[in-house]
Amino acid sequence: MMIEQVKIIHLPKMIDSRGKLGIVEGKINVPFDIRRIYYLYDVLADATRGAHAHKQLQQLIVAIAGSFEVVLDDGVNKKSFTLNKNCVGLYLPKMIWRELKNFSTNAVCLVLASEHYDEDDYYRNYEDFIEAVKAQ
Ligand code: TYD
Repeated sequence: MMIEQVKIIHLPKMIDSRGKLGIVEGKINVPFDIRRIYYLYDVLADATRGAHAHKQLQQLIVAIAGSFEVVLDDGVNKKSFTLNKNCVGLYLPKMIWRELKNFSTNAVCLVLASEHYDEDDYYRNYEDFIEAVKAQ
């Protein structure tokens, strides 16, 4: 079950008198090479982002600012996380349906991705995702 591979990753940080510096390195802090970064910001409080699954893509999701909820579903089991620390990432393997919601004001969701953007890697329809899980 893919949801068992979901994990919280505590990211290293350097703290000194000037402030804090958080670090993510591909294949060191996350189990993949980072090919792409994108970020969600100015998200409306009642908006849902995500609502898709990936065929191959792996991701690390970090609440760089503020907080939001990540609801996960591997087609069999569900899990939900509240992200609100900029030194904590949520690792998602492939084949996880995810929905991001309850964004706080000024929340920023940073996503580190294992692949370049490829619309063919998406299941954007939940029924198609469930069919694919059953076929595995
Ligand atoms: P979408 O997948 O709906 O965002 P969410 O993560 O909330 O599900 O993406 C919104 C639009 O942006 C959609 O037209 C696809 C496009 N997009 C890119 O062009 N490149 C990217 O790296 C990403 C993540 C999305």
